[in-house]
Order: sequence, then C-alpha cells, then structure tokens
Amino acid sequence: MLSLALAACKADASGGSTEGPTIFETMCATCHGPGGKPDAAMIARMNVRDLTGPEFRARVTVELVEKQVRFGSDNKLMPALGTSLKPEQIKAVSEWVASDDFVKRR
Ligand code: HEC
Repeated sequence: MLSLALAACKADASGGSTEGPTIFETMCATCHGPGGKPDAAMIARMNVRDLTGPEFRARVTVELVEKQVRFGSDNKLMPALGTSLKPEQIKAVSEWVASDDFVKRR
C-alpha cells in the first residue's frame, strides 16, 4: 500500500496533462480503479471509496473533490496529492470526477 501511495505521489506522474480524464487514469485509478470503480481487493485492503457509487454521487461537488485531492483523507489512507499536481490539474480532475459524464462514460 505504501509503495502504491509513493508511486502516486511522484512529481509529474501525471505527465503534465490538464485533461481531467487523463489525470484521473494516471493519478487516481491506481487506487480508485479505471473509471472510478475500485476492485474488491482494493476496497478490502484500504477501504477506498467507489467514486461511481450512489452514496458518493449524491453528495459529490467540485469543492469536495478538490479538498480531498489537496489534503488527502482525514485517516491518511488517501495521500495528499496537492504537491504532485498543479492547481489547474487539481481543478480539471475535480471537475471531471464531479461531472455526470464521469459516471456515464463507463
Ligand atoms: C493511494 C491510493 C489513492 C489514490 C492515488 C487516490 N485516492 Fe482517493 N481515496 C483513497 C482512499 C483510501 C479513500 C477513502 C478514504 C477514507 O476512508 O476516508 C479515498 C477517497 C476519495 C474520495 C472520497 C471523499 C469522500 O468524501 O468520500 C475522493 C473524492 C477521492 N478519493 C478522489 C481522488 C482523486 C480525484 C484522486 C486522484 C487525483 C485520488 N482520489 C487518488 C485512496 C486513493
């Protein structure tokens, strides 16, 4: 789990893209799964959130995702990615996760 977190924290791991979907697949899918649906093993291992689930979709906002990406989760299971991503990348990926297309595209 730690090595995963470290891999995700590498600067420029996102390749500098400002496309929300691209940033998601490079920076978030390792834990959250491609398209935001984690596999059962990831959920069992670190209780990662299903970003496509109804509980999350009911309360998602761009601000919520931005805060989560910048600061990580309170329990530190999700690392803060605010230093690995540029502000415009955080904005792009947060808008993507909060959009209806995020769920529809799968
Ligand atoms: C190292 C694994 C890991 C990576 C990488 C990761 N996350 Fe997470 N994420 C988690 C875990 C674990 C949780 C659940 C934390 C908890 O228990 O509160 C979570 C929770 C979340 C939540 C839910 C917050 C809530 O209110 O329920 C959002 C939104 C989120 N992540 C977005 C992202 C985005 C966007 C990225 C990429 C920029 C990302 N995550 C990268 C592990 C990760």
